[in-house]
Amino acid sequence: MPTKVVVGAQWGDEGKGKIIDILASKCDIVVRCQGGNNAGHTVKHKDNTYTLRCIPSGILFENVSCYISSGVVLNPQSVLLEIEELKSKGVNIKNLKIDPRVHVIMPWHIALDEAYEISKGENNIGTTKRGIGPCYEDKMNRCGIRLHELIDKDSFTKKALNVGNFKNKILEKIYNIEPLNINKIVNDYVEYGEKLKPFIEDTCQAIYNAYIENKHILFEGAQGSMLDINYGTYPFVTSSNPISGGICTGAGIAPTAIDKVLGVAKAYTTRVGGGPLPTAMNEDLQNIIIEKGAEFGTNTKRRRRIGWLDAVALRYSKIINGFNTIALNKLDILSGIGSLKICTAYKTKQGNTIKHFPWSLDELAGVTPIYEEFEGFNEDISMCRTVEDLPLNCKKYILGIERLCNIKINMIGTGPKRHENIYRNI
Ligand code: GDP
Ligand code: IMO
Ligand code: MG
Repeated sequence: MPTKVVVGAQWGDEGKGKIIDILASKCDIVVRCQGGNNAGHTVKHKDNTYTLRCIPSGILFENVSCYISSGVVLNPQSVLLEIEELKSKGVNIKNLKIDPRVHVIMPWHIALDEAYEISKGENNIGTTKRGIGPCYEDKMNRCGIRLHELIDKDSFTKKALNVGNFKNKILEKIYNIEPLNINKIVNDYVEYGEKLKPFIEDTCQAIYNAYIENKHILFEGAQGSMLDINYGTYPFVTSSNPISGGICTGAGIAPTAIDKVLGVAKAYTTRVGGGPLPTAMNEDLQNIIIEKGAEFGTNTKRRRRIGWLDAVALRYSKIINGFNTIALNKLDILSGIGSLKICTAYKTKQGNTIKHFPWSLDELAGVTPIYEEFEGFNEDISMCRTVEDLPLNCKKYILGIERLCNIKINMIGTGPKRHENIYRNI
């Protein structure tokens, strides 16, 4: 299977970074396709922890090429910092390429993201405040700045002064915020452009060339399907398409060229930021899992909300992504918490039982989950390397997920490191 897509099946932070790192060892190219430095993908190997924000999680392998394709929004300062962080840990970044078409996150995008959020008060989205929404907004409105533009100093300066002064008017007159120093921004960004110039390459063409040479290409999703701008829990979503279809538009690869889609899910559910989480656990249990599973945002350090595994959401995720296998991470974290629950259906406010994921946020916010209960397990499973090693109740829980979601689980995470994984039916 030379081309494989890896997508987050829930609300993000499912452990995509770990899975990409595992699969990358047998790949030629790993491609990030959408989102920006709102992502935080953790890779733990030996004694090192790598937090990837924009750079693909295959970067630890010297022979793997890593591409940031056109659907990504790029914060140049952040990516340059990421490059330095990796270099300081001895990681070779010679195979990193960035598409000239990526849209650049400018300081006014970040300022506006923050200003929008404050103005929304209690109804804020809980964004990462990385300027993601405003950058995609300009892209769609055809007034964004693309990476290649930073290289041409004169025309960039003219455009950036124009756009920047206009954004300053919005910041000052609508949000009552201090204007940004546009001249400084222009100078900084010209410098970033110079530094990023060696990495710029048409990744769409490079991916196609690799594809026809039958190279193994891995497409790395960011965020999660339930945060998809079209199919997620709008407006509590991100501004891109984290579902598998987003890979095609983001990387410039045809749907017919995708061989396999792998969903990544946690053995429970987490969500960071606003919006409904129907299967939220009681506070005490959430605190236990936050502590055991270190459930804090990789980038923003925010506390994640914790819920039971939601089969209604996962079945929906399967529909919108087309995956039939998943990697199930963090099963080890459920050890010792007592009996386990999987949400099989929702009861609506009107008393109807529904098995599908509702399109209406109001309906979703009012549902009561219907659960199937499973006996828990107390054993430490971090040393388990085969399904046979797992305690019986653990196996029953896995089979329960497969039955209720009609999917096959072919990887099971028993710890954060590359080797802490069980392979099944591969
Ligand atoms: P991503 O954004 O989908 O790549 O996920 P994050 O890196 O934001 O969050 C997942 C967290 O879970 C990271 O800290 C990983 O190191 C960790 N992790 C991944 N898989 C496992 C697992 O199977 N067990 C445990 N205990 N931790 C895991
Ligand atoms: P990875 O790739 C989890 C969430 C934010 C917020 C919403 C919109 O690490 O799984 P944005 O800044 O994108 O406009 O915020 O989306 N969000 C994520 N949640 N994991 C992520 O990425 C996320 N990226 C954005 O918390 O609720
Ligand atoms: Mg993350």
